[in-house]
Amino acid sequence: MFERLKFCVAHPCFALERLLSKTLYRWIVMHTRGIMAEGPIRVKGRPIINIAPGNHIRIGRNVTLRSSNEGHHANVYSPVKLVADRPGAEIVIGDRTIIVGTCVHAYSAIRIGRRCMIGAAQILDGSGHDLCFPHVERRQETRGGAQPIAIDDDAWIGMGVIILPGVTIGKGSVIGAGSVVTKDVPPYCVAAGNPARVIKDYSHTLQEADVTSPSPENDAE
Ligand SMILES: CC(C)(COP(=O)(O)OP(=O)(O)OC[C@H]1O[C@@H](n2cnc3c(N)ncnc32)[C@H](O)[C@@H]1OP(=O)(O)O)[C@@H](O)C(=O)NCCC(=O)NCCS
Repeated sequence: MFERLKFCVAHPCFALERLLSKTLYRWIVMHTRGIMAEGPIRVKGRPIINIAPGNHIRIGRNVTLRSSNEGHHANVYSPVKLVADRPGAEIVIGDRTIIVGTCVHAYSAIRIGRRCMIGAAQILDGSGHDLCFPHVERRQETRGGAQPIAIDDDAWIGMGVIILPGVTIGKGSVIGAGSVVTKDVPPYCVAAGNPARVIKDYSHTLQEADVTSPSPENDAE
């Protein structure tokens, strides 16, 4: 709080710009056609949102969409991009999830759970073009198929990760920076590399943990 006050006094113009951009971009997101926000959201910097008529992007309570580089511990090279531009495509983002500089492009369905952290990743449920067929000179005209992606609650997707069509990332799992995820990752694991492989399974900690500790899931803004 004190640090924030110090910043406002030292840099009044930057502080005003920050405040205006947060408020303005949040308002724009909340009023974009097809956005269904279930509660307050935080919007830092200007995201890119593209929703075809009739499609929806459902955003849970206290979700953060960070497109600005300033104030983040790693570099954010591009804005958050949420695209549901094919007929019937949908994106669902669970409560308290934080998405930083990531492209989420749904051709069919991308579901992101609650309390996830996603850092500058690419999440695409379709490859974009047909692969193996005889008339390759026409590939640019093809659009390829799609397979839904699911990222379960409490997953942490590191910087620069690419998640390919059809993948499910289990609850609480961590994907190492720069990984390409081609197959499902079980819950409570760490996976990394290209292609991503499980490097750690920490599911045993569940037995050791105090499961009576309170869940943060109903936290208010
Ligand atoms: C995923 C991560 C947390 C794993 O850390 P860790 O559990 O301490 O992993 P370790 O250092 O014990 O590595 C275990 C093995 O996996 C490999 N590995 C770890 N991270 C890797 C990665 N991102 N890509 C490829 N291989 C990786 C290690 O080389 C090691 O291999 P070895 O057993 O052959 O020596 C960490 O590597 C990582 O990517 N951190 C960045 C998170 C991030 O993006 N933060 C900012 C955005 S919010």
